[in-house]
Amino acid sequence: MCGIVGYVGKEEAAPFLLDGLSKLEYRGYDSAGIATIDGTKLVVEKCVGRLAALKEKIDGHVPKGTIGIGHTRWATHGRPADNNAHPHTDGAGRFAVVHNGIIENYLPLKEGLLKKGHEFKSETDSEVVVHLLADVYDGDFEAAVHRVLTMIEGSYSLVFLSKDHPDRLICAKKDNPLVIGLGNGENFIASDIPAIISRTRRTYILNDGEIAVVHRDGVDVCNFAGERIDKKVFEVNWNAEAAEKGGYEHFMLKEIHEQPKAVRDTMSQRIAKDGKSVVFNELKWDKDFLDSIDKISIVACGTAYHAGLVGKTYIEKLVRIPVEIDVASEFRYKDPIIDDKTLTVVVSQSGETSDTLAALKEAKRRGAKTVAITNVVGSSIAREADRVIYTWAGPEIAVASTKAYTTQLVAFFMLALYMAEIEGTQPSERIAELIAALQKLPDDVSRTFEDMEPIKTFATKYGFNEDAFFIGRSLDYNVAMEGSLKLKEISYIHAEAYAAGELKHGTLALIVKGVPVIALATQKSVYEKTLGNIKEVKARDAVVIGIAAADDTELAKYVDHVIKVPATDELLIPILAVIPLQLLAYYAAVTRGCDVDKPRNLAKSVTVE
Ligand code: M6R
Repeated sequence: MCGIVGYVGKEEAAPFLLDGLSKLEYRGYDSAGIATIDGTKLVVEKCVGRLAALKEKIDGHVPKGTIGIGHTRWATHGRPADNNAHPHTDGAGRFAVVHNGIIENYLPLKEGLLKKGHEFKSETDSEVVVHLLADVYDGDFEAAVHRVLTMIEGSYSLVFLSKDHPDRLICAKKDNPLVIGLGNGENFIASDIPAIISRTRRTYILNDGEIAVVHRDGVDVCNFAGERIDKKVFEVNWNAEAAEKGGYEHFMLKEIHEQPKAVRDTMSQRIAKDGKSVVFNELKWDKDFLDSIDKISIVACGTAYHAGLVGKTYIEKLVRIPVEIDVASEFRYKDPIIDDKTLTVVVSQSGETSDTLAALKEAKRRGAKTVAITNVVGSSIAREADRVIYTWAGPEIAVASTKAYTTQLVAFFMLALYMAEIEGTQPSERIAELIAALQKLPDDVSRTFEDMEPIKTFATKYGFNEDAFFIGRSLDYNVAMEGSLKLKEISYIHAEAYAAGELKHGTLALIVKGVPVIALATQKSVYEKTLGNIKEVKARDAVVIGIAAADDTELAKYVDHVIKVPATDELLIPILAVIPLQLLAYYAAVTRGCDVDKPRNLAKSVTVE
């Protein structure tokens, strides 16, 4: 996730900018840069790699000036490279801009600017902002920024620096965090509190739709309509470590709560303006291409494999193409039956998992067409695959994968809709209905958190049990598998996921009085059957926690506790139903005193076979 810093005051800006960016390093990044105003000159220094590389680059000629901005970039549009690093400048070197988020309409804006003669130096969506600013500027910096904000669509936190106005920074926020640190004769801007906490604890937290003009002696805040806003000072009382986690106790909990935004970002730019179709500019497949494929093979590990299981259902239900799925470590050695009529989809959050990368190479060696679903731009898997669908979840720091999983499901869902439309396997009304449900999803994810207190209570109560079972049918079974992995991984409780209908073929022997069973019953098509299986475990005195849709009126009669998630299309409900399971694992691990973010024996990126 990108990091932003800004400084205006009486001291040299660069030392603060570099120090502030170093406090954001934990968030992950691939390039860094700063810009200051030295007298009448705008000075920009940036490069790919770690901050250490930037410091080395500017050693002996650190940019001077008492006003400046800085940025660490986590690549989305455009690979990690010097020219894609922020700050971006206009052609005349009058303005510099740093940006977090996604400018959704950057392509048409860029085309218009190119026609007017603007020359672009990067492949990023962000650069369009600074050219727009230069384009509309007529001497009034604030007015030009306001004008730019009416032209861009998407999510952003932005900080603008102007050589003609060396006494102020202007920043704006929409769907990305931005905070202003209030000092004495100096003020700070940052995307996150850790960057400024060593200099001040007095802050303004900007809300969506707010713009701030930051001088060394004052800060003026208004809304996008230009109306003045009186901000209340927020005193930060977190320590530096808590600040890195945004006030959450662990990265995992923070990342679980980032899912509404992660889901929204993954959908961003991939739904047509009329809301009726999915757009994948990164694929550009047509009917001929899809007709040349007679099966799809999904390959992944761990949580990404569980996402693939859901993806298989999405594709088979909506596109009616047969889908095989393998864990990558097995695929490599099974002499897979794939050829040039196979489309291999590999899934990997990190894009570096050794088994998945090897499987991808094996699929290519056998002639398969390939596409990667990954979260890391420029990763080995992204570079190796023919095509890439990025999940824009932002960096995931906790070993346990959470927002990566939900965004992988979103990517698969959109891929299935995209293919269904090309193949004509679903009526356009059904596609529009599913897209409407998808557009509602980020809000549904937010609402899911509203009623999660019972999960905490349940986890605290049963956290010391040594076994737990997860059951469900159809997509609920796939989600059960992910819930079970999460619990094992971070709480070290032995957990098993079972297809609910399969219990009686062996596992039911383990269900005795007091054993916790988490039963998912969100799938209407198999609801009655699942209820029957829940009665089987209840009859053996298991303690059952049921996960159901908000409109469910039955389940409560048969289980000990019910957790409701917002009702939506049954294909999308896994993205909501997994959230209580992530929280269950989290709170169980906390109850047991486990190292939640770094569970024993595990690594975030598994780069060995
Ligand atoms: O980076 P990848 O998605 O390729 O990683 C795959 C698995 O190692 C990963 O999902 C693992 O299972 C997680 N720790 C589960 O939370």
